[in-house]
Amino acid sequence: MGNSRTTAEWKQLDANHHLHPFTDFNDYQNNHGRIIERAEHIYIYDTDGKQMLDAMSGLWCCSLGYSQPEIADAVHAQFKKLPYYNNFFQCSNTPAVELAEKLVQMTPKQFTHVFFTNSGSEANDTNIRLIRRYWDTKKQPKKRIILARTNAYHGSTIASASLGGFEFVHNQFETLPYVQHITDPNWYHNGADLTSDEFGLQAAQELEKKIDQLGEENIAAFIAEPIQGAGGVIVPPDTYWPEVRRILNERDILFVSDEVICGFGRTGNMFGCETYGMEPDLLTFAKAVTNGFQPLGGVMVSEKVADVITSDGGEFGHGFTYSGHPITCAAALATLNIMERDKFVDHVANDIGPYLQQKWTGLADHPIVGHVRGVGMLGSIELVRNKADKERLEADQKSGGICREFCVANGLIMRAVGDSMIISPPFVSTHEEIDLLIARATKSLDQTAEYYSV
Ligand SMILES: Cc1ncc(COP(=O)(O)O)c(C=O)c1O
Repeated sequence: MGNSRTTAEWKQLDANHHLHPFTDFNDYQNNHGRIIERAEHIYIYDTDGKQMLDAMSGLWCCSLGYSQPEIADAVHAQFKKLPYYNNFFQCSNTPAVELAEKLVQMTPKQFTHVFFTNSGSEANDTNIRLIRRYWDTKKQPKKRIILARTNAYHGSTIASASLGGFEFVHNQFETLPYVQHITDPNWYHNGADLTSDEFGLQAAQELEKKIDQLGEENIAAFIAEPIQGAGGVIVPPDTYWPEVRRILNERDILFVSDEVICGFGRTGNMFGCETYGMEPDLLTFAKAVTNGFQPLGGVMVSEKVADVITSDGGEFGHGFTYSGHPITCAAALATLNIMERDKFVDHVANDIGPYLQQKWTGLADHPIVGHVRGVGMLGSIELVRNKADKERLEADQKSGGICREFCVANGLIMRAVGDSMIISPPFVSTHEEIDLLIARATKSLDQTAEYYSV
């Protein structure tokens, strides 16, 4: 146990026995990963003691960084008081009740209830179950189709991955037959000769066309991330969400805002739907709700939906052993208390978010950066050989992976999504640390340009 093994031994053991998420199993036998041993503030350290600035907040989770002893203390205290009890069969526990109250208070005013899960994936599965329940209770059983978007990420269970819009993932299992996708609002990829605003309208109106084509009476819901995260931090054109809102307002279709990434301050408002003036009926959350320290997700349910599903229907045959686990709820309560007390949403909106965006936008001048996107504490850049015609550095979207390797060597965790590099840094980053992030990113871009002889 502990540090008794060398890095080489850890890596070999890992490769021998551990199957990793979203990883090429065959490749991993030879190309071993990094073993992360500890973390402090916004830095992670591997088993060689190498320090890396984590510009991804783990996996979009650790918005408050890695050093939050109050969360650890709350978890420890809860372990001693009630380490586990379930919420089935007429039972509840005090942290779950308090967290439900807190979430209702923090989320937009239409939300009155919460259903707890362990992850964002399970929360989106729960959405599918709640949506069905809603329409069944309203005696509209034809409403079954759920609309989603290409390049969306909604999780990795069969149901949530069906909602997601990654073709390579869909090719690996049988997707749900009642999910259909429209094009994502990625102007740089899909906009052709249209202006950003024209394309935003066109992408939104695809929703309208799809609804009309399939029949409103058959559509149960539309699910979307305010900003698509794993798809490449796709910040939609300004015209997109207002037009989607118009379309949804004219139709009787539930709207689910998947806030697993955008929730809890990431976009400069408490929730991404607030940044874009949307009023969802259901809202998915996970990740930053516990600062990533415990696995917790859930669905916020609006009064409109709650009134229906609590009015009738018999027993709801859905739930998880760990739904509303007292430890995870204690971690969330501590996290949300810190977030409110230390005014982190204001800090993202008015200080560290604008500072990051100002510096991040400057990367547009780099010879291999074709496009820069960002909102709040989210950012992405598109790597190209030729800015004018968007020619990529290499076929098969490999350039991101090359750039990522330079980043790691330079002590920076940036994620590659095809030919784009994305970031989601912790809110606790200082201005100097944002400067360091940009300096390491710039050096990595320089090395990538040199690698491709640009
Ligand atoms: C928008 C979104 N929804 C859902 C999920 C799935 O969450 P989890 O990995 O906790 O199941 C993710 C994960 O990254 C996500 O980004």
